[in-house]
Amino acid sequence: MLTFTSVTRRFGQRLAVDDASFHIDRPTFVGVIGRSGAGKSTLLRLVSRLTDATSGKIHFEGRDILTLQGADKRAWQGRCGMIFQQFNLVPRLDVATNVLHGLLSRRAVLPTLFNLWSEADVLTALSILDRLGIADQAAKRAEALSGGQQQRVAIARALMQDPGLILADEPIASLDPMNAKLVMDTLRRIHDEDGRMVIANLHTLDTARRYCDRVIGMRDGRVVFDGTPDLLTTQAARDIYGADASFNERATSTAIPALPDAAYAQAMPVP
Ligand SMILES: Nc1ncnc2c1ncn2[C@@H]1O[C@H](COP(=O)(O)OP(=O)(O)OP(=O)(O)O)[C@@H](O)[C@H]1O
Ligand SMILES: [Mg+2]
Repeated sequence: MLTFTSVTRRFGQRLAVDDASFHIDRPTFVGVIGRSGAGKSTLLRLVSRLTDATSGKIHFEGRDILTLQGADKRAWQGRCGMIFQQFNLVPRLDVATNVLHGLLSRRAVLPTLFNLWSEADVLTALSILDRLGIADQAAKRAEALSGGQQQRVAIARALMQDPGLILADEPIASLDPMNAKLVMDTLRRIHDEDGRMVIANLHTLDTARRYCDRVIGMRDGRVVFDGTPDLLTTQAARDIYGADASFNERATSTAIPALPDAAYAQAMPVP
Protein backbone atom coordinates (compact mmCIF):
# COMPACT_ATOMS: atom_id res chain seq x y z
CA MET A 1 0.00 0.00 0.00
CA LEU A 2 2.77 2.45 1.03
CA THR A 3 6.31 1.60 0.05
CA PHE A 4 9.52 3.55 0.62
CA THR A 5 12.42 2.40 -1.50
CA SER A 6 15.83 3.83 -0.57
CA VAL A 7 14.41 7.28 0.09
CA THR A 8 16.95 9.97 0.92
CA ARG A 9 16.40 13.64 1.68
CA ARG A 10 19.49 15.75 2.02
CA PHE A 11 19.65 19.33 3.26
CA GLY A 12 23.16 20.47 2.38
CA GLN A 13 25.49 18.10 4.26
CA ARG A 14 22.67 16.89 6.48
CA LEU A 15 20.87 13.63 5.67
CA ALA A 16 17.44 14.27 7.16
CA VAL A 17 16.22 10.93 5.77
CA ASP A 18 18.91 8.45 4.88
CA ASP A 19 18.13 5.53 2.60
CA ALA A 20 14.78 4.70 4.20
CA SER A 21 13.00 1.57 2.98
CA PHE A 22 9.86 -0.04 4.37
CA HIS A 23 6.60 -1.46 3.15
CA ILE A 24 3.17 -1.11 4.75
CA ASP A 25 0.81 -3.52 3.06
CA ARG A 26 -2.55 -2.50 4.58
CA PRO A 27 -4.16 0.44 6.39
CA THR A 28 -2.05 0.20 9.52
CA PHE A 29 -1.75 2.56 12.50
CA VAL A 30 1.94 3.42 12.30
CA GLY A 31 3.93 5.35 14.88
CA VAL A 32 7.21 7.01 13.98
CA ILE A 33 9.53 7.63 16.91
CA GLY A 34 13.02 9.02 17.36
CA ARG A 35 14.94 11.86 18.92
CA SER A 36 14.61 15.45 17.88
CA GLY A 37 16.18 15.83 14.45
CA ALA A 38 15.92 12.11 13.62
CA GLY A 39 13.95 12.85 10.46
CA LYS A 40 10.37 12.08 11.51
CA SER A 41 8.76 15.26 10.16
CA THR A 42 10.77 15.07 6.96
CA LEU A 43 9.53 11.50 6.44
CA LEU A 44 5.89 12.68 6.64
CA ARG A 45 6.60 15.73 4.49
CA LEU A 46 8.05 13.46 1.80
CA VAL A 47 4.82 11.45 1.72
CA SER A 48 2.67 14.56 1.43
CA ARG A 49 5.07 16.14 -1.08
CA LEU A 50 5.70 19.15 1.14
CA THR A 51 9.35 18.42 0.52
CA ASP A 52 11.04 16.59 -2.33
CA ALA A 53 13.28 13.56 -2.05
CA THR A 54 16.90 13.74 -3.13
CA SER A 55 16.64 10.13 -4.33
CA GLY A 56 14.50 7.04 -3.97
CA LYS A 57 10.88 6.17 -4.59
CA ILE A 58 7.62 6.28 -2.67
CA HIS A 59 4.64 4.31 -3.93
CA PHE A 60 1.11 4.53 -2.57
CA GLU A 61 -1.34 1.96 -3.88
CA GLY A 62 1.03 1.31 -6.74
CA ARG A 63 1.43 4.96 -7.76
CA ASP A 64 4.79 6.64 -7.83
CA ILE A 65 4.00 9.74 -5.80
CA LEU A 66 7.36 11.50 -5.99
CA THR A 67 6.97 12.11 -9.72
CA LEU A 68 3.52 13.73 -9.50
CA GLN A 69 3.41 17.27 -10.83
CA GLY A 70 0.90 20.11 -11.08
CA ALA A 71 -2.74 19.09 -10.71
CA ASP A 72 -1.80 15.45 -9.99
CA LYS A 73 0.45 16.55 -7.15
CA ARG A 74 -2.27 18.80 -5.72
CA ALA A 75 -4.80 15.96 -5.98
CA TRP A 76 -2.41 13.71 -4.09
CA GLN A 77 -1.93 16.34 -1.39
CA GLY A 78 -5.72 16.51 -1.12
CA ARG A 79 -5.67 12.81 -0.26
CA CYS A 80 -3.21 13.40 2.59
CA GLY A 81 -5.00 14.52 5.74
CA MET A 82 -2.41 16.46 7.71
CA ILE A 83 -2.52 16.97 11.47
CA PHE A 84 0.05 19.26 13.08
CA GLN A 85 1.25 19.80 16.63
CA GLN A 86 -0.06 23.38 16.65
CA PHE A 87 -3.44 22.46 15.08
CA ASN A 88 -3.07 25.08 12.29
CA LEU A 89 -6.66 26.27 12.49
CA VAL A 90 -7.78 29.78 11.58
CA PRO A 91 -8.27 31.02 15.16
CA ARG A 92 -10.86 33.74 14.49
CA LEU A 93 -13.07 31.63 12.25
CA ASP A 94 -15.77 29.41 13.63
CA VAL A 95 -15.19 25.70 14.05
CA ALA A 96 -17.53 24.62 11.24
CA THR A 97 -15.77 26.91 8.72
CA ASN A 98 -12.40 25.54 9.80
CA VAL A 99 -13.68 22.04 9.09
CA LEU A 100 -15.05 23.13 5.71
CA HIS A 101 -11.56 24.40 4.85
CA GLY A 102 -10.69 20.73 4.39
CA LEU A 103 -12.47 21.07 1.06
CA LEU A 104 -9.97 23.70 -0.12
CA SER A 105 -7.63 20.90 -1.07
CA ARG A 106 -10.21 19.61 -3.54
CA ARG A 107 -12.14 22.66 -4.69
CA ALA A 108 -11.54 25.90 -6.51
CA VAL A 109 -10.40 28.52 -4.05
CA LEU A 110 -12.58 31.38 -5.32
CA PRO A 111 -16.05 30.11 -4.30
CA THR A 112 -14.67 28.91 -0.99
CA LEU A 113 -13.10 32.31 -0.36
CA PHE A 114 -16.59 33.73 -0.28
CA ASN A 115 -17.78 30.97 2.05
CA LEU A 116 -20.04 29.55 -0.60
CA TRP A 117 -20.40 26.16 0.95
CA SER A 118 -23.26 23.99 -0.17
CA GLU A 119 -25.81 22.82 2.33
CA ALA A 120 -24.58 19.27 1.82
CA ASP A 121 -21.01 20.38 2.67
CA VAL A 122 -22.19 22.06 5.86
CA LEU A 123 -24.17 18.98 6.88
CA THR A 124 -21.15 16.78 6.25
CA ALA A 125 -18.96 19.06 8.38
CA LEU A 126 -21.51 19.00 11.21
CA SER A 127 -21.87 15.24 11.09
CA ILE A 128 -18.08 14.82 11.30
CA LEU A 129 -17.99 17.17 14.29
CA ASP A 130 -20.81 15.18 15.83
CA ARG A 131 -18.88 11.97 15.31
CA LEU A 132 -15.89 13.46 17.12
CA GLY A 133 -18.07 14.65 20.00
CA ILE A 134 -17.69 18.39 19.40
CA ALA A 135 -20.79 19.31 17.36
CA ASP A 136 -21.86 21.65 20.15
CA GLN A 137 -18.74 23.74 19.47
CA ALA A 138 -19.51 24.27 15.75
CA ALA A 139 -20.43 27.96 15.99
CA LYS A 140 -17.62 28.97 18.35
CA ARG A 141 -14.42 30.57 17.23
CA ALA A 142 -11.65 27.98 17.02
CA GLU A 143 -9.49 30.02 19.41
CA ALA A 144 -12.13 29.65 22.15
CA LEU A 145 -11.66 25.86 22.32
CA SER A 146 -9.24 23.86 24.46
CA GLY A 147 -6.17 22.39 22.79
CA GLY A 148 -7.69 18.93 22.71
CA GLN A 149 -10.86 20.26 21.15
CA GLN A 150 -8.87 22.25 18.58
CA GLN A 151 -6.93 19.16 17.61
CA ARG A 152 -10.19 17.26 17.13
CA VAL A 153 -11.37 20.12 14.88
CA ALA A 154 -8.15 19.66 12.90
CA ILE A 155 -8.91 15.94 12.62
CA ALA A 156 -12.45 16.81 11.46
CA ARG A 157 -10.94 19.13 8.83
CA ALA A 158 -8.72 16.28 7.63
CA LEU A 159 -11.73 13.93 7.48
CA MET A 160 -13.58 16.51 5.37
CA GLN A 161 -10.97 15.73 2.70
CA ASP A 162 -11.95 12.04 2.83
CA PRO A 163 -8.22 11.33 3.00
CA GLY A 164 -6.52 8.23 1.68
CA LEU A 165 -4.18 8.42 4.65
CA ILE A 166 -3.73 10.60 7.71
CA LEU A 167 -0.31 12.03 8.50
CA ALA A 168 -0.07 13.37 12.04
CA ASP A 169 3.11 15.20 13.05
CA GLU A 170 3.34 15.09 16.86
CA PRO A 171 -0.45 15.46 17.24
CA ILE A 172 -0.37 15.42 21.05
CA ALA A 173 2.92 17.15 21.82
CA SER A 174 1.14 20.37 22.88
CA LEU A 175 -1.58 18.68 24.93
CA ASP A 176 -1.97 17.70 28.57
CA PRO A 177 -2.32 13.95 29.23
CA MET A 178 -6.11 13.94 29.30
CA ASN A 179 -6.48 15.77 26.00
CA ALA A 180 -3.64 13.73 24.51
CA LYS A 181 -5.62 10.59 25.28
CA LEU A 182 -8.79 12.04 23.75
CA VAL A 183 -6.95 12.90 20.54
CA MET A 184 -5.13 9.57 20.28
CA ASP A 185 -8.39 7.70 20.97
CA THR A 186 -9.99 9.72 18.17
CA LEU A 187 -7.23 8.89 15.69
CA ARG A 188 -7.36 5.24 16.63
CA ARG A 189 -11.15 5.15 16.27
CA ILE A 190 -10.94 6.69 12.80
CA HIS A 191 -8.43 4.05 11.87
CA ASP A 192 -10.53 1.21 13.28
CA GLU A 193 -13.89 2.36 11.96
CA ASP A 194 -12.90 3.78 8.56
CA GLY A 195 -9.93 1.56 7.81
CA ARG A 196 -7.74 4.59 7.11
CA MET A 197 -3.99 4.39 7.33
CA VAL A 198 -2.62 6.67 10.05
CA ILE A 199 1.05 7.58 10.33
CA ALA A 200 1.77 9.55 13.49
CA ASN A 201 5.06 10.98 14.70
CA LEU A 202 5.04 10.45 18.43
CA HIS A 203 7.36 11.76 21.08
CA THR A 204 6.69 9.17 23.75
CA LEU A 205 7.36 5.48 23.60
CA ASP A 206 4.37 4.84 25.85
CA THR A 207 1.99 6.32 23.30
CA ALA A 208 3.56 4.35 20.47
CA ARG A 209 3.22 1.14 22.46
CA ARG A 210 -0.37 1.82 23.43
CA TYR A 211 -1.83 2.91 20.11
CA CYS A 212 0.22 1.62 17.21
CA ASP A 213 0.14 -1.62 15.25
CA ARG A 214 3.58 -0.91 13.94
CA VAL A 215 6.42 1.32 15.01
CA ILE A 216 9.15 2.79 12.86
CA GLY A 217 12.14 4.03 14.83
CA MET A 218 14.45 6.60 13.26
CA ARG A 219 17.90 7.70 14.25
CA ASP A 220 19.96 10.23 12.31
CA GLY A 221 17.70 9.83 9.29
CA ARG A 222 17.93 6.06 9.20
CA VAL A 223 15.19 3.56 9.95
CA VAL A 224 16.75 1.59 12.83
CA PHE A 225 13.61 -0.16 14.03
CA ASP A 226 10.56 -1.45 12.19
CA GLY A 227 8.20 -3.80 13.95
CA THR A 228 5.29 -4.38 16.27
CA PRO A 229 5.26 -2.56 19.64
CA ASP A 230 5.95 -5.79 21.56
CA LEU A 231 9.38 -5.87 19.91
CA LEU A 232 10.21 -2.46 21.37
CA THR A 233 12.48 -3.72 24.10
CA THR A 234 14.67 -1.49 26.23
CA GLN A 235 17.57 -2.40 23.94
CA ALA A 236 15.55 -1.46 20.86
CA ALA A 237 14.67 1.85 22.51
CA ARG A 238 18.38 2.43 23.19
CA ASP A 239 19.13 1.80 19.52
CA ILE A 240 16.56 4.42 18.60
CA TYR A 241 17.17 7.05 21.26
CA GLY A 242 20.84 6.41 21.98
CA ALA A 243 22.60 4.79 24.89
CA ASP A 244 22.80 8.02 26.86
CA ALA A 245 19.45 7.06 28.37
CA SER A 246 17.75 10.23 27.26
CA PHE A 247 14.94 7.99 26.08
CA ASN A 248 14.09 7.31 29.73
CA GLU A 249 13.01 10.83 30.17
CA ARG A 250 11.96 11.62 26.62
CA ALA A 251 10.32 8.46 25.51
CA THR A 252 8.83 6.67 28.44
CA SER A 253 7.71 9.59 30.53
CA THR A 254 3.98 10.13 30.69
CA ALA A 255 4.61 13.78 31.40
CA ILE A 256 3.68 15.87 28.39
CA PRO A 257 5.28 19.29 27.76
CA ALA A 258 3.67 22.20 29.52
CA LEU A 259 0.68 23.85 27.92
CA PRO A 260 0.36 27.59 27.56
CA ASP A 261 -1.66 29.01 30.46
CA ALA A 262 -4.64 29.86 28.29
CA ALA A 263 -4.85 26.29 27.08
CA TYR A 264 -4.75 25.00 30.64
CA ALA A 265 -7.56 27.32 31.57
CA GLN A 266 -9.66 25.91 28.76
CA ALA A 267 -8.78 22.28 29.24
CA MET A 268 -11.82 20.15 29.75
CA PRO A 269 -12.52 19.06 33.34
CA VAL A 270 -11.59 15.53 34.27
CA PRO A 271 -14.84 13.50 34.10
N1 LIG B 1 13.99 22.74 5.52
C1 LIG B 1 15.11 22.32 6.10
N2 LIG B 1 16.30 22.89 5.82
C2 LIG B 1 17.44 22.45 6.38
N3 LIG B 1 17.50 21.40 7.24
C3 LIG B 1 16.36 20.80 7.57
C4 LIG B 1 15.10 21.21 7.02
N4 LIG B 1 14.14 20.40 7.51
C5 LIG B 1 14.75 19.53 8.34
N5 LIG B 1 16.08 19.77 8.37
C6 LIG B 1 17.06 19.01 9.14
O1 LIG B 1 16.82 17.63 8.93
C7 LIG B 1 16.96 16.91 10.14
C8 LIG B 1 15.67 16.17 10.42
O2 LIG B 1 14.66 17.13 10.75
P1 LIG B 1 13.18 16.72 11.12
O3 LIG B 1 12.44 17.98 11.34
O4 LIG B 1 12.66 15.78 10.09
O5 LIG B 1 13.38 15.93 12.49
P2 LIG B 1 12.30 15.43 13.54
O6 LIG B 1 12.62 14.02 13.83
O7 LIG B 1 10.94 15.75 13.06
O8 LIG B 1 12.64 16.31 14.84
P3 LIG B 1 11.67 16.89 15.98
O9 LIG B 1 11.39 15.73 16.93
O10 LIG B 1 12.49 17.95 16.63
O11 LIG B 1 10.44 17.42 15.32
C9 LIG B 1 17.36 17.92 11.20
O12 LIG B 1 18.75 17.90 11.32
C10 LIG B 1 16.89 19.22 10.64
O13 LIG B 1 17.69 20.29 11.11
MG1 LIG C 1 9.41 16.94 13.77
